[in-house]
Amino acid sequence: MCGIVGYLGKGNAKEVVLNGLYKLEYRGYDSAGMSVFNKKNQRFDMYKDVGRVAHLDSLVQSIDHSPIAIGHTRWATHGKVNQANAHPHFSASERFVVVHNGVIENYRELKARYLNGHHWVSETDTEVIVQLIERFSDELSVEEAVKKTVSLLHGSYALLVLDQDNPERLIAAKHKSPLLIGKSDKGIIIASDLVALAKYSQVYSPLEDESIVVINQAEITLWNRDYVQQELTFQPMDFEDDLTELGEYPHYMLKEIMEQPLVMRKIVDRYFHDDHIVIDEAILEGIRQADRLYVLAAGTSMHAGYIGKRLFENLTEKPLEVHIASEFAYHPPVLSAQPFFILISQSGETADLRACLSHLKKHHYPSLTITNVKTSTLAREATYALELFAGPEIAVASTKAYTAQIAVLAVLAAKVAHRDAGLRESISELAAKMEQYLTQYESVAELVKRVLTKQNAFYIGRGTDYFVSLEAALKLKEISYIQAEGFAAGELKHGTIALIEEGTPVIALNSEPHVALNTRSNLEEVKSRGAMAVTIATEAVAQEGDDIVLPNVDPLLVPIMMVLPTQLIAYYAALERGHDIDKPRNLAKSVTVE
Ligand code: F6R
Repeated sequence: MCGIVGYLGKGNAKEVVLNGLYKLEYRGYDSAGMSVFNKKNQRFDMYKDVGRVAHLDSLVQSIDHSPIAIGHTRWATHGKVNQANAHPHFSASERFVVVHNGVIENYRELKARYLNGHHWVSETDTEVIVQLIERFSDELSVEEAVKKTVSLLHGSYALLVLDQDNPERLIAAKHKSPLLIGKSDKGIIIASDLVALAKYSQVYSPLEDESIVVINQAEITLWNRDYVQQELTFQPMDFEDDLTELGEYPHYMLKEIMEQPLVMRKIVDRYFHDDHIVIDEAILEGIRQADRLYVLAAGTSMHAGYIGKRLFENLTEKPLEVHIASEFAYHPPVLSAQPFFILISQSGETADLRACLSHLKKHHYPSLTITNVKTSTLAREATYALELFAGPEIAVASTKAYTAQIAVLAVLAAKVAHRDAGLRESISELAAKMEQYLTQYESVAELVKRVLTKQNAFYIGRGTDYFVSLEAALKLKEISYIQAEGFAAGELKHGTIALIEEGTPVIALNSEPHVALNTRSNLEEVKSRGAMAVTIATEAVAQEGDDIVLPNVDPLLVPIMMVLPTQLIAYYAALERGHDIDKPRNLAKSVTVE
């Protein structure tokens, strides 16, 4: 979590860093800060406060043109959300300034060993980094002091360092947290994500773990983990910056919900040649040779993995287990003789998954990352990678990345099973029907007003509807703060039904014909105990009185259709409560801490 950005060049550093911070705000928005070189007093000034980047923007309004600055947007891990804990952090003499994304696990030991008796200004783990650099720079060059400092750190870091004694130099180091460097004829920018670089770079390069970079106006010098100087290889910037604009929509979440038909078409475009699916043979062979597939993922991506289980088991008859990444990483189950791992991650940076991947690599297991960010760490470090082509997802609550994950899993499973025929047409038809349903998106607002009147709610369903109900409940929780649970419809009566009282909202998802009547009975059971019952059904199973009826699509793709109204329900529930829909409390989009 947290986003960092630094700039050195002929442009206005304040503007470049602010723009980067706005783009990185999805990574955390507890506080924001910037250190910028002030030409008048020839020093780096510090601006930081609790609140969003817009607030920081107002604090730095009067700053003149400056060639160099660094900035940070925080998701608090160590220490409360307050000004002292906001980044950047000064060293004791204020010579050095540091911003950091990551977690330093041994910061207490480092304090005790090297900085005993030091007066600490913040409660952060980061402050130890800047104090160590200052301490070691008494005897070493600044580059050597940074190198010595990072060699002592356990955990993850992407950090930027400024030095008052050499204000034309920016030093960066990274391990486990992402950091990319971009270049144009105007200057050099370094940041946690490509989105922050795009506007100011013609070329870019993702940095490898344990690299240290020294940036001067004239050149960039890169060292690897052994402190051997390396060539930086740049690739052309191919990120379309305008895709991150909000346009006519009031919120990114609504924009991204509405973009889903387009994403389906893009997936068809990228994965099909005529009617045939095109996927690297090595991936297909890897999966075909495996005796069991394992999906590792977290949150929404894990919910897509459950749908993937159904898709793979139906199409390929290969068993697929879904595991919570944070559990698998430290408690791996007994595995089959020839496992193949599929890591699903919208961001491609999730720390829980990175921990899984290092376990997989240690055992030389084959792995495939399915991600929306092709430059991400998980995409680069897994054996194989497949892209979602969902376009940048800015709202913290994932919508289009989730449906893209399901579509790509369907494409992959169909190709492994040599069952490409007809899928192109099915996805295209799905896109058209999603579009048709989404024209009535505003009607969901009425339903939400009528139904979601309590501080708790249930989604129920059977089969893939149960898996979708998990995602529906998560979406509702994270942006409306309603306590919601997704439940297998038949399981409610085994205990949880005790929570049903007058007016408790219970929303049934009903799309599978062979269990449709069972789900209806389960809804009746809660209705007779006072629940406010709602049915979302496909035309195939719909009955008079159902609240939302969705068009029929290829049964493989039904979950993509079923989730749409639940995304809108979450959206309107949050809107009605006046919440910050795109930036819900306590969350961040890219979860880079374990
Ligand atoms: C919820 C959401 C999260 C993520 C989870 C994993 O809307 O987006 O539950 O799915 O944090 O993140 P990724 O997919 O980036 O690995």
